[in-house]
Amino acid sequence: MEMRDYLEVNRANWDERAPAHAASPDYAVERFISDPSFLSSVVRFDRPRLGELAGVRGVHLQCHIGTDTISLARLGAQMTGLDFSPASLAEARSLAERAGASIEYVEADVYRALEVLEPAAFDLVYTGVGALCWLPDVTRWAVVVAGLLRSGGRLFIRECHPMLSSIDETHLDRLVVDYPYFQRTEPLILEDGGTYVETEVQFSHNVTHEWNHGLGETVTALLEVGMDLTGLVEHDSVPWEAIPGQMGMDAAGEWRLHDRPWRLAASYTLQARKR
Ligand SMILES: C[S@@+](CC[C@H](N)C(=O)[O-])C[C@H]1O[C@@H](n2cnc3c(N)ncnc32)[C@H](O)[C@@H]1O
Repeated sequence: MEMRDYLEVNRANWDERAPAHAASPDYAVERFISDPSFLSSVVRFDRPRLGELAGVRGVHLQCHIGTDTISLARLGAQMTGLDFSPASLAEARSLAERAGASIEYVEADVYRALEVLEPAAFDLVYTGVGALCWLPDVTRWAVVVAGLLRSGGRLFIRECHPMLSSIDETHLDRLVVDYPYFQRTEPLILEDGGTYVETEVQFSHNVTHEWNHGLGETVTALLEVGMDLTGLVEHDSVPWEAIPGQMGMDAAGEWRLHDRPWRLAASYTLQARKR
């Protein structure tokens, strides 16, 4: 399959999974309707680092079904969500409408964000776990982030750690580094008939094209486009069972290795400010 097809291949995968995710107890969509103060577990994890969001104009890149986007809106931000998956955005719009939240959703490839959103207009660009792996080039992403932010605006990203992404999760008894740590031109082409939440749905679009980005590559890309690094914290946990059989979940919904979790950086929070 040629490189230009990666958007099509990945979109088919996400479009098929979006309704199953919205129906899964793990995304807790109904809790957002029944409890107007409910926040996603991802945003609850971020909250101590997020700071004051009241009145902030924010954009959530790769917003999926909008559970994190609505959580940021509930913390006072005026939010726009962008995703390339129409099925994800249909779920996000339905959730916002049912919950009475005013959020603008825009359908586009993240690399086209500067064509469909107002450049240099946002105080905050937010990106949640499992976003960068869908993008072939982290520098092109950094150009988009810097282009969306006003001077002094900030990026907040919590992402799967590239060290975790380099591990072949099919080994049940040890950690085996088998996938690229550094960004490669060629995608990692994977096939997985499941998803990361509890669901009975059978999927047919199971191939994905993914790329890892080393932590230094992501930091360097941001520095090169005029962003100053203001925070970088590595965590021993992620919000899903990334290595099945080797992880346990805590009360906050975060998964870490059962055995010596200090061996593995599983996710990170990076913050940067546009000069
Ligand atoms: C795992 S979700 C990340 C959001 C968040 N962690 C969540 O669970 O709601 C990944 C999202 O990235 C979107 N995506 C993947 N490639 C994209 C691209 N090139 N442009 C825009 N969105 C993309 C997918 O449609 C999906 O909704």
